[in-house]
Amino acid sequence: MEKRNLRFNKDGKFKIMVVGDTHIKFTDEVKMGDYLRMMDKFAEDLKPDLVVFMGDLISFKHYKDGKVIDATEEQKRHEMDCLVSACVKNNIPFAAVLGNHDHDLGEWQAKEILARFNEYENFICIDEAGVTGFGNCNVTIKHSDSEKDALNLWFIDSGCQSPLNDGYASVEVDQIAWYEKTCDELTEKNGKVVPAFLFQHMPVVEEYHFLKETNKWNPYAVKGTVKTFKKYYKLDKRTGVKGNMGEAPCTPNVSSGEFYSWKKKGDVKAAFFGHDHLNDFIGQVDGIYLIQNKSAGFHMYGDGVRQSVRLVTVDENCPEKFETRMVRYQEYFGKKCDSIKGFDKIPDRHRMVLRRAIMIITTILSIGILSYPVWKIVEKYI
Ligand SMILES: [Fe+2]
Ligand SMILES: [Fe+2]
Repeated sequence: MEKRNLRFNKDGKFKIMVVGDTHIKFTDEVKMGDYLRMMDKFAEDLKPDLVVFMGDLISFKHYKDGKVIDATEEQKRHEMDCLVSACVKNNIPFAAVLGNHDHDLGEWQAKEILARFNEYENFICIDEAGVTGFGNCNVTIKHSDSEKDALNLWFIDSGCQSPLNDGYASVEVDQIAWYEKTCDELTEKNGKVVPAFLFQHMPVVEEYHFLKETNKWNPYAVKGTVKTFKKYYKLDKRTGVKGNMGEAPCTPNVSSGEFYSWKKKGDVKAAFFGHDHLNDFIGQVDGIYLIQNKSAGFHMYGDGVRQSVRLVTVDENCPEKFETRMVRYQEYFGKKCDSIKGFDKIPDRHRMVLRRAIMIITTILSIGILSYPVWKIVEKYI
């Protein structure tokens, strides 16, 4: 297969399978087994034309006696092979963006992950942007019957931590400049703005537009994680947002201007994010879809046995009216899972409701128990 040679199918459709955080670890073969079984089934059944991995991909390390130990060559190879196995077996092109944990061990880790990806024939991303980060690139999908670009895909590295931001890093100014320049070149080449999807690990702070404040006793309340949003929130259905939020969007503290840049250029119709393992909501801010993709891996905290991928079906004549849905592990395998057992099968957000209910009941009971002796004293005198 020639790299980056993507084209809409004869029926004018193109299917993208978006795979949220995987966090593959060679140290847990059982969790790897669940992931492989799920991905094999999804690849065979959904038959995507492209798979996109949303970052926080593999570990490359393990811990021993409290120390971080680099994985061996063989262990690294095993993690990579496991990650992309379903794509290789089914000859599906795949792309990836790096997550914050893919930068944890330093620059060498991000470089090495990309270098290893490029050893696979089906990997379509070539880092040629020459800007901050690794793997920044764009790939177009051509019309089924012409050489014109029908849809452009942006892959952006949102980095790791930033002392300047006092939190997660923002996409840098030079990345935004590259995006704008490349968008202009593409517009000139095609004689019109080419509609685009953008893939990036870290969500943008504009996701907070979907939220409204609530009190912490609300069963759906989540606590804001960024400096300007520290209260309790729930999804505001009046914004048109749909799906689930099991944790607050964990974004950089400030907007980097990236979202404004997308609005200015007008090409980005949908931006897909990972990072937040429990969120799969989708909504529009100023005409741009912001779409969360919960974790697909079994190695980190997750939502019971609701590991999922997102299927996006695009029509070449109106890419902005794409169809999308989450496809859950449970749909295919029920609650049968080798690595998640017992109480852990309860989705995190249901556990949250359960925890709050227990807290309320115990508070009422303790008030009742404490008030009894007080009542006995009062009773004597009234
Ligand atoms: Fe993650
Ligand atoms: Fe992350």
